[in-house]
Amino acid sequence: MTEDLAVSIEGLVRHFGDVVALDGVDLTVPRGQVVGLLGPNGAGKTTTVRILSTLLQPTSGIARVAGFDVTKKPDEVRRAIGLTGQYAAVDEYLTGRENLRMFGDLYHLAPSYVKQRTAELLDWFDLTDAADRPARTYSGGMRRRLDLAASLIARPSILFLDEPTTGLDPRSRLAMWGVIQNLVDEGTTVLLTTQYLEEADQLAQDIVVIDHGRVIAHGTAEALKDQIGGDRIEISVSDPTRIGRAAEVLRPIGHGDPVVDEARLLMPVSGGSTVLVDAVRLLDAEGIEVSDIVLRRPTLDDVFLSLTGHAAEEDPAVPPAGRKGRRDKKGGKE
Ligand SMILES: Nc1ncnc2c1ncn2[C@@H]1O[C@H](COP(=O)(O)OP(=O)(O)OP(=O)(O)O)[C@@H](O)[C@H]1O
Ligand SMILES: [Mg+2]
Repeated sequence: MTEDLAVSIEGLVRHFGDVVALDGVDLTVPRGQVVGLLGPNGAGKTTTVRILSTLLQPTSGIARVAGFDVTKKPDEVRRAIGLTGQYAAVDEYLTGRENLRMFGDLYHLAPSYVKQRTAELLDWFDLTDAADRPARTYSGGMRRRLDLAASLIARPSILFLDEPTTGLDPRSRLAMWGVIQNLVDEGTTVLLTTQYLEEADQLAQDIVVIDHGRVIAHGTAEALKDQIGGDRIEISVSDPTRIGRAAEVLRPIGHGDPVVDEARLLMPVSGGSTVLVDAVRLLDAEGIEVSDIVLRRPTLDDVFLSLTGHAAEEDPAVPPAGRKGRRDKKGGKE
């Protein structure tokens, strides 16, 4: 029933020379839903979105958007979609209003329609006051909003958003989530890529996790959490050099092997809070000082850690310079 699917991808492969960016990805987006494509740097998110937007040809595999094969019916696909790329596509020297008009011209829309739609979008994205200033005077959040507004000029029924909130401060990120939610409430189908588990959890009904060009998990946020089982304890020790010893000491009371992430240790457990007491006792007997200990339900972070063996992106509110570099920006494989 491909009519019910806004997007369907089967066995999608894309090579760039020796680099295998996509290694057989399957994915579907039912009409009216939001699907989150979650993965770290270099996972293949942008490559997927570019193929779906007809900007890039697949090496093999099939991708259909609005029922049309992207390689055979690119014009039909383009008419059905809006795209907000990872890097803002606004023209710095044009004003906000002129940028929107330019996109209207690209889509060959009637000038009277474009004029009215532009005013509506400027208002909706809170850009009316800045509408007649060149976009180079806009803040990062304003550019992102203008970019999204531009992709909506032709009222697309399917929207591709490539990392819509990367680089935004927490307030702008919340505002962007609100805007996306509104679009979805109005019936727009959305495929959004993100490195942020919290964003996928917040917006997407269905989450597809990719790493190294392959789908490594798929389901609702809750199903993904259930997949890795029950409660976990998370322990931080004052002296990071003793974390390995702490893992050994705690292994017998765990319900699976502890995972060590720098000075932090995550361990699946059963038995609720009594396990906390046992853990503190065991570590105390060993002379290992605990700086923090909590019992919690699995989060998508835990899912990511258990699936990929490394932690997901830290909170986006933390500026990049404050984050621990986990991978190179482009395609670094560890
Ligand atoms: N034009 C290109 N030429 C060569 N290699 C490319 C090209 N585009 C992407 N790649 C490689 O393909 C892989 C997937 O890249 P892609 O941009 O799809 O990742 P991503 O998930 O969007 O990452 P990010 O979170 O950093 O945006 C990477 O190894 C990247 O270096
Ligand atoms: Mg990308």
